[in-house]
Amino acid sequence: MTKTPTSRLDKLLANLGYASRREIQSLAANGRIRLDGVPVPKADTRIALTPDLEERLVVDDEALDPLPGFALMLNKPLGVTCSRKEAGPLVYDLLPARWRRRDPALSTVGRLDKETSGLLLMTDDGALLHRIISPKRHVAKRYRAKLARPMTGGEAELFASGTLMLEGEEKPLAPAELEIVGPQEAILKVHEGRYHQVRRMFAAAGNHVEALHRESIGGLALPADLPPGEIRRLTDADLAAIFEAGNGHGG
Ligand code: URA
Repeated sequence: MTKTPTSRLDKLLANLGYASRREIQSLAANGRIRLDGVPVPKADTRIALTPDLEERLVVDDEALDPLPGFALMLNKPLGVTCSRKEAGPLVYDLLPARWRRRDPALSTVGRLDKETSGLLLMTDDGALLHRIISPKRHVAKRYRAKLARPMTGGEAELFASGTLMLEGEEKPLAPAELEIVGPQEAILKVHEGRYHQVRRMFAAAGNHVEALHRESIGGLALPADLPPGEIRRLTDADLAAIFEAGNGHGG
């Protein structure tokens, strides 16, 4: 059996962004941190990092933030950038202030363009992040695109060909599936994450994407009741859905 890891209380809470280690000492001394209802007065107490700790450890009467190794979804609004330091509104600004100070830090799982909306995942778990974006896994990303001009008819075949070469690249795109919704609206399912991929694919077909929205990643769809700008923690079922069979190539 593997041993449950432990952490000093002050280190645990400082890494979760609550306060500095010194400030945590005073929170503890003032009885503001409780484990199973009992105050933990000393900040150097070692705490076992069991999954139920989030319900058992309470700071100022509030349940603990997610322990490291968690993921969330954001309904990314238009006009917000997937970057840590560019000018203008950033996806990180949409997180609770404490979550922005976490170590390990939350990162976006891939990126969406500033002018693309929809499902964006974030996690502090590097291994999970790589499993989702790894081209070997072929996790499908499904986008709804609104186009400047009516499609001409050859797009689905072109995108499915496995030979489409984007400008400036050396390797053709893997086959992608196009579903036509209307003359100027389509759903495109891609299995890679190249820079501006969907916009460049339609540009290669002589069109222009006017609006782009990501609806799902693997078998995980953006919930209809998650408003733009809002986040939701992923459950184990959500995580499993990302890698669900039938959402890779050809699925
Ligand atoms: N393809 C794009 O062109 N933009 C995105 O944001 C995602 C995929």
